[in-house]
Amino acid sequence: MMKRSILISGGLLVLAAAGISQEGASKDDARSVSGLDAITVREAGMDMSVIVFRSMGDAIKAGSDAKDQTFAAAGLVKWAKAVPHLFPAGTGKGETSTATQALPTIWKDRAGFEHAAAYYAETTARLAALAAANDTLGFAKQLEVVNQACGACHATYKQPVPPHHGN
Ligand code: HEC
Repeated sequence: MMKRSILISGGLLVLAAAGISQEGASKDDARSVSGLDAITVREAGMDMSVIVFRSMGDAIKAGSDAKDQTFAAAGLVKWAKAVPHLFPAGTGKGETSTATQALPTIWKDRAGFEHAAAYYAETTARLAALAAANDTLGFAKQLEVVNQACGACHATYKQPVPPHHGN
């Protein structure tokens, strides 16, 4: 009796996992992050990255040393490396029930998107190195470079939003 109900609930779990993976990517691996999860994670991460990015600029303007931004910069480095993995096929605009600003260009021009993400990761790695070296002037300049890397990717791969939206 006991054994039977365990088997049944195991079966239900498998069904549930298969159901999740149907919408979005990774149909071949039901245990991976689903397409809908990927959209949620990337939107949340992007929102938090703008907060981290602004907090670093504000701190420098307020007279803080670059070395005090080491933790924030290191977080941005990790995030930048994760970005290209959060855009699995089938998670573009209109492909799932979730709202997304990810343009089809991401998948049509995957190499270009990967390149934009790699460049972003490079700019954040340099930012973290400048923080570690406590080069405050260099850090402030590099924040601009990172900002341009955000903008360059958005210009091609993200649906534009009205200016009041903040990104
Ligand atoms: C490699 C490309 C790329 C880079 C680099 C990038 N973004 Fe994005 N960003 C996107 C895409 C694509 C979306 C749309 C994601 C979605 O809606 O699913 C997005 C969405 C956003 C959003 C809106 C998220 C939401 O809640 O809908 C914000 C805010 C944002 N990015 C900020 C930033 C900031 C700040 C940086 C740099 C520090 C940055 N992005 C770097 C591609 C990028």
